Amino acid sequence: MKLSLTEIAEKKRRGEKLVMVTAYDHPSAVLAEEAGVDLVLVGDSAADNVLGYDSTVPVTIDELLVLVRAVARGAERAIVVGDLPFGSFQVSSEEAVRTAVRFVKEGGADVVKLEGAGRALERVQAIVGAGIPVMGHVGLTPQSATQLGGYRAQGRTAEKARRVLADARALEAAGCFALVLEAVPAAVAARITEAVSIPTIGIGAGSACDGQVLVWHDVLGLSDRPPARFVKRYAELRGEIREALERFAADVRAGTFPGDEHTYAIPDEELEAFLAGS
Ligand code: KIV
Repeated sequence: MKLSLTEIAEKKRRGEKLVMVTAYDHPSAVLAEEAGVDLVLVGDSAADNVLGYDSTVPVTIDELLVLVRAVARGAERAIVVGDLPFGSFQVSSEEAVRTAVRFVKEGGADVVKLEGAGRALERVQAIVGAGIPVMGHVGLTPQSATQLGGYRAQGRTAEKARRVLADARALEAAGCFALVLEAVPAAVAARITEAVSIPTIGIGAGSACDGQVLVWHDVLGLSDRPPARFVKRYAELRGEIREALERFAADVRAGTFPGDEHTYAIPDEELEAFLAGS
């Protein structure tokens, strides 16, 4: 049974933490589902984590839709959040609705997420008005990292913190059902979490948020980049995978793989007939 947005909202009221993780393919979605996560985000972070881009900016709608479809096929209970990529919602509300509809209709996403406030508020209203729930995202919004002065924490002065709080309130008023708070001081995130009635999901925003999200490659230690301050690695799979591949390569080169147990047999008489006739 799919989790409902009412249950998500209830969890905030009951003080139960929400768990979200990114996933970009079917096996990962199935694992996230088995682990009992509440929301699976097909983030535009697929750009740098799986598609080899050096930022989230270049990833296209079509590239993300392939991943959203794969994840949606694996997530029965968890809510699938499709992340609207840069350029797919900024130009007009009509285009924003069209993109969101594609994520739901072609991708199988349950809801969409978009970055920013300001002009994005109108887009949120339009998408929600079209019947598609929207998750907001404030603080560090990687799609506009250049404008924000790089990948750095936001809201670190009273004035800037007030701006993030105002954006969060405005996104709630525009109709968002939840909000990602990325890279804002813990105390600021705590105040925002108190000030809005929708759940906040933090990444680098401290423990007072209503939930937490981490990127798949970070949480599992699959990335070759040094982790951001807010990342906690729960496994070191990169090393394990490389070692497994090195052992496979060594076995192939030594002729010890495949063994008899990995090969198919043919009855002796069939083999004799085959060899005689070849
Ligand atoms: O794309 C992404 O992975 C995200 C998370 C960092 C929240 O937006």
